[in-house]
Amino acid sequence: MGQVTAAEAILLVGGQGSRLRPLTVNIPKPMLPCAGVPLLAHQIVRLREVGVRHVILATSYRPEVFTEYFGDGTALGLALEYMTETEPLGTGGGIRNAGALLGPDPEAPVLVLNGDVLSGHDIGAQLAVHAAACAEVTLHLVRVPDPRAFGCVPTNAEGRVTAFLEKSPEPVSDQINAGCYVFRRGTIDTIPDGDVVSVERDTFPGLLSGGSVVAGYVECSYWLDLGTPAAFVQGSADLVRGVLRSVAVERPGAALVAPDATVAVDAVIDGGSAIGPGAVVGAGAQVSGSVLLAGAQVAAGAVVRDSVVGLGAYVGERTALSGAVVGDAARIGADNELIAGARVWTDAVIGDHAVRFSAPS
Ligand code: GDD
Ligand code: MG
Repeated sequence: MGQVTAAEAILLVGGQGSRLRPLTVNIPKPMLPCAGVPLLAHQIVRLREVGVRHVILATSYRPEVFTEYFGDGTALGLALEYMTETEPLGTGGGIRNAGALLGPDPEAPVLVLNGDVLSGHDIGAQLAVHAAACAEVTLHLVRVPDPRAFGCVPTNAEGRVTAFLEKSPEPVSDQINAGCYVFRRGTIDTIPDGDVVSVERDTFPGLLSGGSVVAGYVECSYWLDLGTPAAFVQGSADLVRGVLRSVAVERPGAALVAPDATVAVDAVIDGGSAIGPGAVVGAGAQVSGSVLLAGAQVAAGAVVRDSVVGLGAYVGERTALSGAVVGDAARIGADNELIAGARVWTDAVIGDHAVRFSAPS
């Protein structure tokens, strides 16, 4: 059998990214710079690598940010179209809505991806499982230590999905939905048109109760949902260091510094940090495992670890951040300390010597 491919894909990118606020106030989650380019760009180039030629972005929240950056997809070497929901239709409603732009063959396999996942799994192998099982849908599944924040998806000995339990407090398996599906094109047409539909809570359980074949493709290679600040900095650092390879990162290494960023000679940038265009890092500052968005400034002697500093935000002299998020254009004065989970809102101003949360020893 020749290699199984899919020519078309839908990317679900309409969510509000609420767990990543304030980072997502101005930039939708899939457009946040991850190792120098939007997270979504890494997904699109992977789709191109497996033969996808037509990608439809199912947008809702801040759709203009996507169109302004990606346009018609020419720069990425494929055709890109947009379907925008004026009111969010949910994951299933978004797939159905975008499905109007797909080709007509009901048997064609269509890849559908959550727009906030980094995955190194073998998409070609998932497509082959889908074809061999003659499935309506084939889900990529991974195993995680705590399945409660995900869709729990048990399978039987034949690899058939037996249940879909979204965000269950009592999961029956550690196997979860990894957010990459192969749909038979005709199955997308069975999702109600124009309604709010959750593919996880409505479509998948409905297919299972109706006796349809839903297959699982289990592969536990690199996989990360970038829905939280901690996961976001981890994903970006993994791409920068080459833990996960992406053709959108030319030379993996200890750090990625935009050509027009200004970094003092004695500053230390490491741990897979990504320093955005026009950002400034002052004398003796340390930036480790962190993301500085465009125009962010880290003053002399500051220490920024596992944190995100937003567009044009300022971190004052000797201030220490660890596991923190600083919103766009926020200003933190000198000699502050912000640790695990701290979030400074967009445009907020914190004076000198104002905040000190010491990590418990
Ligand atoms: N177009 C559109 N419309 N897209 C949406 C909508 C909508 O109304 N709501 C959410 N999305 C997009 C988001 O932008 C995101 O890319 C994707 O759908 C999934 O939404 P998340 O909010 O990130 O969901 P989750 O992470 O809590 O759970 C999902 O992903 C897990 C794996 O990462 C579920 O699919 C779980 O079952 C799964 O385990
Ligand atoms: Mg998610």
